Amino acid sequence: MQPHLFYNTQPTERGILNYNNEEEQRRMIFTVTSKAHQTATTTGVSMHHPMIFLKTVCITLWTLLTWAITPGIAATMDTQPLSISLDQDTIHWLQMHHANLLEPSFASPLSVRVADNRQKLSLVQIKPENLEALSAVMHLQFHRCGGFMIEDSPTDFVLDWAQNFTTTAQPVAYSIGMHDQVNAILKQISARRIRDTIAYLSGFENRYYRSSTGIRSQESIHGIWKKLTLTNPDISVELVQHSAQYPQPSVRLVWKGSKQAEEIIVLGGHGDSIALNAWGGVERHAPGADDNASGIATITEALHVLALSGWQPERSIHLFSYAAEEIGLKGSSEIAATYLEQHKKIVGVLQYDMTNHPKNTNEIGLVSDYTNAAQNQFVRDLVTTYLPHLHVTSAPCGYACSDHASWHRRGYVASMPFESNPQVIYSKIHTSEDTLANSDATGNHAAKFAQLAVAYLVEMATIDK
Ligand code: BES
Ligand code: ZN
Repeated sequence: MQPHLFYNTQPTERGILNYNNEEEQRRMIFTVTSKAHQTATTTGVSMHHPMIFLKTVCITLWTLLTWAITPGIAATMDTQPLSISLDQDTIHWLQMHHANLLEPSFASPLSVRVADNRQKLSLVQIKPENLEALSAVMHLQFHRCGGFMIEDSPTDFVLDWAQNFTTTAQPVAYSIGMHDQVNAILKQISARRIRDTIAYLSGFENRYYRSSTGIRSQESIHGIWKKLTLTNPDISVELVQHSAQYPQPSVRLVWKGSKQAEEIIVLGGHGDSIALNAWGGVERHAPGADDNASGIATITEALHVLALSGWQPERSIHLFSYAAEEIGLKGSSEIAATYLEQHKKIVGVLQYDMTNHPKNTNEIGLVSDYTNAAQNQFVRDLVTTYLPHLHVTSAPCGYACSDHASWHRRGYVASMPFESNPQVIYSKIHTSEDTLANSDATGNHAAKFAQLAVAYLVEMATIDK
């Protein structure tokens, strides 16, 4: 099969993507497609199912993107093995079925126990040329898009994961006692406003981490949050610029607590979007209405009703629209690492990534891995108290699937409520069909998460109840 045939028959829309040149992009598309196909053939799984094919190229593309934008990795691409972290169950499975993909050191990998995950995470080495095959295997066997993390250094791997919770987490006594205040604010939540914000954000051609519209979408979230809070002297909103590797900023809102301002509660979601076509190319049109305009719109609505209510937090609240989640949790990783470096006291982190595509109307999910068990129980208690009609299904993502993992790996207490059982994959994710019309066009499902966010923030940010 000739590379140019792929490219010429199914061209990827271009113009927004900063490939160094057309040749680089063409090579990338060919490598993804041909290698994914070979791997699927050798593992005996049919690639004819469109979802399998799409998802496979999606991971391989993510891997290649990471190579393409990370000079350190790109430079070592053909020589040094890369370090990746994986959970031990996966390593055992790979050992049985695809031992050839990993370097011999995997027989005695460097391992750490991840607090609140019943499993260990191990650092193994892989030759760069085997990375694509591993990605494809991971998807075909485990239905993950990604599913492992490329680690910059073994030292960071051990330091980040092994220190879990003993040093970083700020202990907090979970209690629920703000019923009147919470219930009054909950009444103000508007599904319509959430729907309108999702419509607005998904109206950007894309919110891709390297595109100009990806910068503008974050600036617009900055503008929306600023407008909602202009008259409140305790609230400031700013753009957080990231490393020189990509231009998309994160957005941060800081609401200063009146009593213990140094204790922080974080509520965030990712502001970027990505869509992939069947050939592994990044599509220009990436509405990301559910993934994750919904999370940002939900956070925005919680802010709206809280700011207008006149309520004042006693602890500080930091809201985030993180940059560059879709290519490896980049924005949130940088932010969480900085908070850790600065010894910031965080009492809890809540992550909203996909809130508006219900599987069952009265069911919400709670991600059980890479999160904190005690805070997860508190979230369930909040649902029982304030949203008693809802049923919570706890299940693992199976891997570090969103920005909560950036905090969790640095020892902070994180939880991620999710639109449904996290094991249920929304078929439109990472496609140009992730639109408001294909999720909940009323915004009603996301409104439940805005209610939960208000309950969480008011209870967590109040010391004297
Ligand atoms: N919203 C997804 C994560 C997700 C998908 C959670 C399905 C639960 C169910 C997120 O934006 C995402 O796409 N994450 C990546 C991983 C990341 C490390 C690049 C993924 O799942 O492939
Ligand atoms: Zn995503």
